[in-house]
Amino acid sequence: MFRDNLLKGKRILVTGGGTGLGKTMVAKFLQLGAEVAILGRRKPVLEETAAELVKAHGGRVSVHACDIRVAEAVEETVEEIWREGPLDALVNNAAGNFISRTEDLSARAFDAIAGIVLHGTFYMTNACGKRWLKENRKASVLSVLVTWVWTGSPYVVPSAMSKAGVAAMTKSLAVEWGPRGIRLNAIAPGPFPTEGAWARLSPTGPLAARDRSQAIPLRRVGKHPELANLAAFLLSEECEYLTGEIIAIDGGQWLNTAGGFGHLAALADKDWAEIRDSIRQANQKDKSKRTV
Ligand code: HXC
Repeated sequence: MFRDNLLKGKRILVTGGGTGLGKTMVAKFLQLGAEVAILGRRKPVLEETAAELVKAHGGRVSVHACDIRVAEAVEETVEEIWREGPLDALVNNAAGNFISRTEDLSARAFDAIAGIVLHGTFYMTNACGKRWLKENRKASVLSVLVTWVWTGSPYVVPSAMSKAGVAAMTKSLAVEWGPRGIRLNAIAPGPFPTEGAWARLSPTGPLAARDRSQAIPLRRVGKHPELANLAAFLLSEECEYLTGEIIAIDGGQWLNTAGGFGHLAALADKDWAEIRDSIRQANQKDKSKRTV
């Protein structure tokens, strides 16, 4: 699909690059000749991914343990990355989410998600952006959103609000920073199964067996490399006139059903209790590997 070395000479930072869609994008960027930095809260997971991908594709991957909810930690990490050389692109991929009835959310639960998706994405983008502006450097930001930035979605309100905020940032900064050579675009994926998202977004209980692919006009979920191809395209110099755009890649799902979690209205109290327990178990499992 792409010429060899499409991204040769580019240094790309991928937040949440240790797992899921982030990891697939990193693999694609390496294949296309880029050097990649990956950032996340679990250093062992990052190190394992870096070793695996370098073995498979060659190239260089640096790992950076950082909690993007903490502005000072972001600043320190971006400074550390810059000391090795300036970045050419930032991929805002790190996210947090879980399904819940909104009335069951505490303020801390809201903050846990908004802290990663809204605040963390802003801290990362501004830490890179101000360096690019100062250095008069052409660069590109790509954020991974979701189709409910256009529709909203019940049962994932903190994520919908935060991702919509990042959509607003993308369009605003495309205009503010465009004259200085910085492009901002976003991808709005539909269902691309990953371990992290599925543990928190696929309910156990009565609706688990429901075949949701019927809601998708193309009748299947996304394949990870399809998203990685779109990311590589948006970051490449071959489409430099493209900025401020949010591109859905969802098999047509949101046009058909709004892509959200409206079908969960059928759940009962006991189903929500089960869902909450299974999400908390997934959270605890992840936490046990965190180093920051
Ligand atoms: C209600 C919950 C809950 C649940 C956690 N909380 N799970 N409340 N229902 N199921 C509450 C806790 O009780 C606590 O509030 C608060 O949230 C913070 O919980 P912690 O576990 O301490 O938070 P933290 O360790 O910071 O974890 C953050 C997280 C976690 C977002 C909760 O899941 C995480 O780090 N996730 C990262 C990976 C991830 O989510 N990937 C999926 C992204 S998918 P109290 O008040 O009790 O202290 C995505 C969009 C995909 O973004 C779209 C697909 C179509």
